[in-house]
Amino acid sequence: MCRNVAKLSIVGTGPGSPDYVTPAARKTVKDAQIVIGAERSLILFREDIKGESLTLTAKNLDDALNYAVDSAKAGKSVAVLSTGDPGFSGLLGSVLKRTNSRHVEIAVIPGVSSVQACAAALQMCWDEVSLFSFHDVASSEKRIALAKAVKAGKDVVLIPNPKVFTPRMISSFLLKNGADKATPVVICENITLSDERIVQTTLENAAQQDFEPMCVMVIKSSSKMKMRD
Ligand SMILES: C[S@@+](CC[C@H](N)C(=O)[O-])C[C@H]1O[C@@H](n2cnc3c(N)ncnc32)[C@H](O)[C@@H]1O
Repeated sequence: MCRNVAKLSIVGTGPGSPDYVTPAARKTVKDAQIVIGAERSLILFREDIKGESLTLTAKNLDDALNYAVDSAKAGKSVAVLSTGDPGFSGLLGSVLKRTNSRHVEIAVIPGVSSVQACAAALQMCWDEVSLFSFHDVASSEKRIALAKAVKAGKDVVLIPNPKVFTPRMISSFLLKNGADKATPVVICENITLSDERIVQTTLENAAQQDFEPMCVMVIKSSSKMKMRD
């Protein structure tokens, strides 16, 4: 039987600056009948949106994503905007959960992740880094894995959790778990945006200050390997 498969695109919008929005992302949004995204993402595509648009908030996330899937199933082309890259703590996972076993064709349009933008700003090769995101899950297992990576002298790049595992809390946690207080730390705030700020400090100092919620944290554990057992 030939089934008419609807199309739902999850579009990576990059780290925030319009300079990092890809032509593929713009084309997908232009072609979409429905565009769903957070306000800051919708603003990036203001000139491209031709169809209906819906602002995504923490409160309407469930309803909005269900609407996206239902609309795609009904034959509409839908674009869901996801900051950075959709596959790294982005909306891809949330959409896949909802489309599981439903007949919706998914297309993922990659975007420049905040992690990539941070590595580029620091002129850092990230082949060997340990990558963590605590944005959605900050479980104790994950925290312990982080402490182990630092203890093993791995360089770490991570997305903190703006409420329950901020860079300040992460630094305190690592110090309590035996990390060297002089371990170099870099916090990249609002990367690619006009208020971008890159703070180079140590774990000890990072444990005493607050940073912008939108940040990527780099821990240069390989520079300091004196850790307690
Ligand atoms: C829901 S996660 C999305 C991550 C995104 N999918 C990515 O690939 O960058 C949101 C978190 O990403 C980080 N982030 C996103 N944009 C950023 C930027 N321009 N500068 C620094 N961090 C950013 C922040 O930690 C923010 O809380």
